[in-house]
Amino acid sequence: MTGISIKDKTVLVTGSNRGIGKSFVLQALAMGAKKVYATARNESTLAELVALNDSRLTTLSLDVSDQTQVDAAARDAKDVEILVNNSGVGGGGPIIGNADEAPKRLEMDVNYFGPMKMSTAFAPILKSNGGGAIINILSISSLCSFAFAPGYSASKAAGHSLTQAIRAELAKQGTLVCGVYPGPIDTDMAKNLPFEKASPDSVATHTYEAMSSAVEDIYPDPFAVEFVKQLRTDPKAVEKSNANAA
Ligand SMILES: NC(=O)c1ccc[n+]([C@@H]2O[C@H](COP(=O)([O-])OP(=O)(O)OC[C@H]3O[C@@H](n4cnc5c(N)ncnc54)[C@H](OP(=O)(O)O)[C@@H]3O)[C@@H](O)[C@H]2O)c1
Repeated sequence: MTGISIKDKTVLVTGSNRGIGKSFVLQALAMGAKKVYATARNESTLAELVALNDSRLTTLSLDVSDQTQVDAAARDAKDVEILVNNSGVGGGGPIIGNADEAPKRLEMDVNYFGPMKMSTAFAPILKSNGGGAIINILSISSLCSFAFAPGYSASKAAGHSLTQAIRAELAKQGTLVCGVYPGPIDTDMAKNLPFEKASPDSVATHTYEAMSSAVEDIYPDPFAVEFVKQLRTDPKAVEKSNANAA
């Protein structure tokens, strides 16, 4: 698979009103994208991006857990060459002694079924535009569960498996499928985590640069790089450490 530069490309980012998604929009514009679809559940929350007055920016309303909205986005954005599946939720709480399944089903709906719906809807569009790329924002918790976020980790592990599956299925149409495995990043989602955090802008620039070199597994920050190194050396020690993290 050949690398794809963000320059002069049309990209769609899910969950782009804040955090990492907003950085993927801003860095795409900074790195010379031709057109950027910034999407959010509530389009009015994209006001700061709209205020940039950049003619390359188009906004769309999109809840990735809603098939009707996903289909509408695919009808409205037939020129997309790069799809960034960024939307995510956490907060499902512990498993044992916690009978409430709803927040854990929501984590699966947004973090697993969301990218699945989006990838299915946009695969024919990417194909007709020359192959393109899908970037799935996963997590180091995709690779080993963190005890403080068990349902989230399970949904991100499912997202990792989905990424491998669609990479295999889309290889024949020339679509590059990248999985991004960040450590703690300085956004609303991680605000209560007691770790050193990388900036969301650095995740976006690192990812776009890695995509241009056709890197499939992207570890965008120092925490993630060290985590994966330890995981390869002693996976059981990482599991034990994750049991006590945060
Ligand atoms: N921050 C970290 O430490 C970290 C580490 C590893 C991976 N990640 C991943 O990075 C991605 C971005 O997270 P973040 O850190 O930027 O968190 P964030 O600030 O909480 O942003 C989450 C984004 O997802 C959107 N979203 C939630 N449910 C959605 C739905 N059903 N449809 C469409 N959009 C939805 C949110 O929109 P609303 O404003 O409408 O809620 C928001 O834009 C997530 O996939 C997350 O799992 C984050």
